[in-house]
Amino acid sequence: MINYQNNKPFVEGVSIEDIASSHTTPMYVYSQKKIEEKYNKLKNTLNAEIFYAVKANSNQAIIKLMSTVGAGADVVSVGELERAITAGINPNKIIFEGIGKSKDDISFAISNNIRLINVESIDEIQRINNVAQEHNKCIDIGIRLNPNIDGQTIDKISTGKKTDKFGIDTEKLQDIFQSLENAKNINLIGISCHVGSQIFDIKVFSEIFMKMKKNAQLFLDKGYSIKHVDLGGGLGVTYQDKDNEVDLELIKNEFNKCFENAPYQLSFEPGRYLVANAGILITSVMTIKNNGGINFLITDAGMHSLIRPALYQAHHDIEVVDKSNSELVTYSVAGPICESSDILNKNITLPKQKVGNLLIIKDTGAYGKVMASNYNSRGLPIEILVNNNVFQKIHQPLTSREFINQDIIPKWLD
Ligand SMILES: Cc1ncc(COP(=O)(O)O)c(C=O)c1O
Repeated sequence: MINYQNNKPFVEGVSIEDIASSHTTPMYVYSQKKIEEKYNKLKNTLNAEIFYAVKANSNQAIIKLMSTVGAGADVVSVGELERAITAGINPNKIIFEGIGKSKDDISFAISNNIRLINVESIDEIQRINNVAQEHNKCIDIGIRLNPNIDGQTIDKISTGKKTDKFGIDTEKLQDIFQSLENAKNINLIGISCHVGSQIFDIKVFSEIFMKMKKNAQLFLDKGYSIKHVDLGGGLGVTYQDKDNEVDLELIKNEFNKCFENAPYQLSFEPGRYLVANAGILITSVMTIKNNGGINFLITDAGMHSLIRPALYQAHHDIEVVDKSNSELVTYSVAGPICESSDILNKNITLPKQKVGNLLIIKDTGAYGKVMASNYNSRGLPIEILVNNNVFQKIHQPLTSREFINQDIIPKWLD
């Protein structure tokens, strides 16, 4: 995502130093061109519909961009559903899943005439049917299956094994059929699955395709008119230069082999693949200190701005903007939060840094800002979108005063 002009880092045609000096750090910066490139590459390789998994980055501008390039949206909460609709995604291109949907959530989805609601448990079939009945409607649903596939990814982002909480066990198909028989206000038109994130192994994709094809056939044989088979997200991206992203050509071969002449529409719901490598987090060095022989660069970004390293031990490469000092130093880059786990990267060798210098935390476009918090009552990072030679702020966080004003002191303490 970063290019160099006269040894200075740029995003598209804009200098990172210029962006950083226009607002306060930490700030997420996204490249529109990179997102468009990733979407087009995926769309042009796989003959399938793309529903952007909004959870990866739910900024209104990013969702709007997805709608402009032609993506639909995969949402997992009523909040994400509202975001997708507000950003202009056609409701007919929105799929609503998630394992905990309240009656109000379902009602909101029904009122907005979305493409379908994916059911994640048997009792939800009845719940959705009841709400649809109250609306006097017959609504389309899909079933999210748990295909019992090990995505060969880290445990915390695995979602398709039998023991994971997601989807309905494919061994319970008889129970699904039975519940559907009594549910007259719903119309089963699709099945879906999502086995996890950061999947690279082509054998895993192949297993997903084969199992979903087999399951679709079981539903078709039972007389359900399955129009929609969703194969989930999880397309792996590179977080370190030495790694390659998932090979789309290999996926395409398996996909075409498996689904030739399939009588239903196929789709994917990627999040990370579309945005991870299209975002960076810019942070400033606040303090430099040595504790027990470790050189710490303390930055204004920390686990409150990017929790992935603390939560998943995720790796993000870090680059410096000022490379002028030829002396190299091994640093641990740590945030300002009062938690020992607030470390962004350890033991990295960088040109010697000064307080006030800018660091670039790379590949943070997915599951970055969306997972940020106000822990330690620190502010959220702002977000910037770059398009060619222009950039614009696309998120202004609440001020600390606005945050404080959200709390309510009860009368008896006043
Ligand atoms: C149901 C569902 N679909 C899609 C995704 C997107 O996954 P990824 O960002 O790895 O593509 C997720 C991620 O958790 C998910 O839970």
